[in-house]
Parts: sequence; C-alpha cells; structure tokens
Amino acid sequence: MTVKNICCIGAGYVGGPTCSVIANQCHDIRVTVVDINPERIAQWNSDLLPIYEPGLDEIVFSRRNKNLFFSTDVETAIKEADLIFISVNTPTKTCGEGKGRAADMRYVEESARTIATTATSSKIVVEKSTVPVKAAESISKVLVANQKDGVSFEVLSNPEFLAEGTAVENLVNADRVLIGHNETPTGRAAFRELRDIYMRWIPKERIIGMKTWSSELSKLASNAFLAQRISSINSLTALCEVTGADVSEVAYAIGHDRRIGPNFLEASVGFGGSCFQKDILNLVYMCERLSLREVAAYWQQVVDMNEYQKERFTKKIIETMFHSVSDKSLAIYGFSFKKNTGDTRESPSICVCKRLLDEGANLNIYDPKVMDKQLISDLNRVTCNQEKVKRLVKICRDPYSAAKNSHAIVICTEWDEFKKLKYEDIFKSMKKPAYIFDGRKILDHDYLSRIGYEVYTIDTIRSNRSKNKTRESTEVSGKYLAKRNDEWYPAEVIQKRPVQDPNTFEYYV
Ligand code: NAD
Ligand code: UDX
Repeated sequence: MTVKNICCIGAGYVGGPTCSVIANQCHDIRVTVVDINPERIAQWNSDLLPIYEPGLDEIVFSRRNKNLFFSTDVETAIKEADLIFISVNTPTKTCGEGKGRAADMRYVEESARTIATTATSSKIVVEKSTVPVKAAESISKVLVANQKDGVSFEVLSNPEFLAEGTAVENLVNADRVLIGHNETPTGRAAFRELRDIYMRWIPKERIIGMKTWSSELSKLASNAFLAQRISSINSLTALCEVTGADVSEVAYAIGHDRRIGPNFLEASVGFGGSCFQKDILNLVYMCERLSLREVAAYWQQVVDMNEYQKERFTKKIIETMFHSVSDKSLAIYGFSFKKNTGDTRESPSICVCKRLLDEGANLNIYDPKVMDKQLISDLNRVTCNQEKVKRLVKICRDPYSAAKNSHAIVICTEWDEFKKLKYEDIFKSMKKPAYIFDGRKILDHDYLSRIGYEVYTIDTIRSNRSKNKTRESTEVSGKYLAKRNDEWYPAEVIQKRPVQDPNTFEYYV
C-alpha cells in the first residue's frame, strides 16, 4: 500500500498544524482533519483560524479544499483513509483513580473505538497524542476487539515534538521524527509507509525507527528533561536573589559547556503550556504505580519547583508594594504561556493573576493574542468567583492604556513588543513609585531605573541595588522613610552608610 489518504482525529494545536504541513509537503496525499467540535472545524474553515501560529495561515489558505480538508464527518474520513493519526487531547485526569496526575485516556480510547467500528478496510493507526507507556497496547486491544471481518490494524507510535509559536518551523525542520513500531513484518511495513511520507521533506537519518514502548517513553522523557532544565535554572534564581549573583550570567556560563548547551536555560516566572506539567505528572504517576517511588519523587520535584517559582514571584510583588496590593492597579503584560501563541493552558500568568486577585488588586490585562473569552474563563475557573473577576479585571487593547494610572507593570509573557514600548511615556502616566516586575527578565533594567522605575525581576531583589543610590531618608519610631518626588515612603535600609549627614542612607523603598 502507498498512503494516498490520511485522516487525523483531533483538530487541535497538534492535529491542525501537523496535517497542514503534511498536506503542504505532499500535494498528492489527501489529508482530512476531523473533530467532534463543530465550532473548531468551522474556524479551521474560516479566515480566522482557531490557533495562532506564525506561518500557519499561509499554508492552510494555500492547501485548504485542495488536498487539505477540515470536517466533522469523522466516520467518512476514517473509512476513506489508509492511515489515521490519533491527535486528540490527553489531559490530566480531574477525577477518579490518578486524579490530578494520570493522563486521561478517554478520548484516545473513544477514537480507537470509532476507528474499529467504522473502518471497512485495513488501516495504519498512528498514535500522535502524548500517552503513557504501553498505551499502544490498549489501543490495539480496543481495535482488535471491535474490528470487522477482513479488517486489520497496525498501530504505530509517532509522538509530536513541536513547540507552540514555532510549530510550522518545528514540523518543517524537525530535529527528529520517532516512529515506534512492532518488531513484526506488518509492523515494519507500517513503519516504512509512515517513514516514506516524512522522507518527502525530512532527511532520512532524522527519522528514527524504534520499539513502540521506547517511542512512547521518549516523548515523556523529552518533555521531562526540557522542563527539568527550566526548573533547575529557576531554582538558581532564588539563590541569586540572596547572594547577588546574576542568573543570566550563570546561565550563559553553564550553557557554554558544550555538553550542556545554551538552549532552554532562560529563567522565568515558571514554565507553562499544556504539556510539561501534564506529561511529568503522567510520568510520576506511572512510576508510582510501578513502585518506583524514588524515580517518581525525582521528577515530581520539577513540578514542585515550578510551583515554588510562580509563588515566589507573586509574593515578591505583594511584599514589595508595601505588603498590600488591595485596591491598587497592576498592569499585567502577557497572559499566554509563552510568546507567539494565544494558548493560555497552564500559563504562569493565570497563577500570578489569581494570587493578585485574591489580594484584592485591580488588574489591567493586555495580551496581543489571547481571546477575551478565554482570559475571562481561565480567571473565573481559578478564582471560582465570577463577580470578583468582573469587578477587578479589565482587558486592555494596548499596553499603554493598561499601564495608565496603575501602580505597577507585571511582565508575565516574553512578547517581543514589550521590549520596544515607550517606557518614558508609560512612566509619566503611572502612579508613583512606579514598579516594574519583570517575570521574564526581558527588559533593560538599567534604562528603566534611570527613567525612575523601581525595577524587580526574578533573580535580583532590587535591580537598583548596585547603583548605591542615596536619597533623603529619616527614621520615625524605628521605621525608615525615604523621600521621593517630595513624598515620604516606607524604606528598607540595606546598609547604614551615612553619605552627607547621618539621616541619609542607602536604602530601598
Ligand atoms: P487540543 O485540545 O488542542 O486538541 C485536541 C482535539 O481533539 C480537540 O479539538 C477535541 O475536540 C478533539 N477530540 C477529542 N476527542 C475526539 C474524538 N473522539 N473525535 C474527534 N475529535 C476529538 O490538544 P493538542 O494540544 O492538539 O494536543 C493533542 C495531543 O498532542 C495531546 O496528547 C498532547 O499532549 C500532545 N502534544 C501537544 C503539543 C502542543 O504543543 N499542544 C505538542 C506535542 C504533543
Ligand atoms: C513543549 C516542548 O518544547 C515541545 O517539544 C513539546 O512537543 C510540547 O511541549 P511548548 O509547551 O509549546 O512545547 O513550549 P516551550 O517552548 O517548550 O515552552 C514551555 C514553557 O517553558 C513556556 O512557558 C516557556 O515560556 C517556558 N520556558 C521555555 C522557560 O521558562 N525558559 C526556557 O528557557 C524555555
């Protein structure tokens, strides 16, 4: 068989871009992406695609209704296909055994059942969703138990490694393509069929055949390793904060060891996204079930460190603003979990906003790509208080209006446009002292301090510490006050160093 017709079940962040790229690379293959969500399919068939990915619109618009189709007719697409990708969501279970940790495999199982009961000819079934090790065995079991006479299935594992925001580039220039298969003649034949599709644009040496279980575990392990690097560098930000070391310099030094490499060492407010936490928890749960307690505890720590980082950052905001943000306005820059995507799943921004809302802060939120509806639904879900969200949250159309009359700017996402704003103008429009909390360490802190901002980031308690600023200050009942713009603010004296007279100290406000 040579594959001429592909069906992909699941038109999400993976199914949509992956199949669009396949259709673009193989004009002679008919690719149909199906989903049970009619709204999503309607969006794929409209001018405004359901997901934002650089370069994706061009591909979809050039191949749609030629050899790329989006449909809710799951059964017809299955019947017509030679090869079927299962690309449905595998979220963390929210109830029952393994709640909060195990992967919920119900959508994968449902897809397998639909394939088995619908297919009238033999198919190659490709597991593209991220799944626990040995999921292919369960899929095969469901397929075999329900298959019609004369129909057979071969299951492959072909995990996806794309990252959101760079999906098209990752798919076109993939570092590697894994194809897990059975060590049988039919397994090897199915492997060759899928390999031949990828070989149209991926160099042969980057297409790696392996045992099915190794392929499934490699996907979980890759995400665990990537997230581990972020938690490792983030753990050092806490240490930098108390020692005065600079995490960017440390990351630069570490990354210059060729064995370690420079990527994925950017310290942040914490990692987000639909994959890292879910896949590590899935790994942890699997290890626990297999009585590998030490291994489970090792990987759990990556997630725990991430929680610690998000909490530490938010605590810093509250403590710095005189231990209260109640009734203060904070401009939140960025709500997506990383730049160049409108996806908010597990975004650290959600945690930061929730904690600030708990404290009674007014939030002016700006993100260039996140939909209003999504943002509100995320905050309603985490606060369980729609009235509060309605009262305290304002969605802004630009970063300038978000910052106007606010006490602080909080950078949660590393959107490039945040680096290019007119921070002098913004400063003038803000309440004083005007704070910036840079959760991504993307801004020029010296420049911002010169403008007059109080700048804080993830590794330095006070970025103006090195400047040895001295300002007029005084002591009242054992508490220090510092004068700024003709007003007195509570100040924390870090070093009593009289400059001109005993009442002038080096201090932080
Ligand atoms: P998603 O939620 O964006 O999309 C999944 C889609 O599957 C949804 O539109 C849903 O309606 C559809 N669906 C569910 N059950 C269905 C069924 N029975 N029939 C038809 N459609 C059905 O999820 P996603 O982000 O695309 O992730 C899909 C899988 O890929 C997950 O296992 C995920 O872990 C993995 N993955 C995701 C990424 C990523 O960056 N998002 C990267 C690599 C791997
Ligand atoms: C990840 C994997 O990278 C990808 O291979 C897999 O297929 C799906 O999961 P994704 O979640 O889309 O991709 O984005 P990624 O670029 O990995 O970023 C995840 C999170 O880590 C983001 O919140 C990002 O801002 C953060 N991050 C990333 C850091 O905090 N520091 C870094 O150095 C890199």
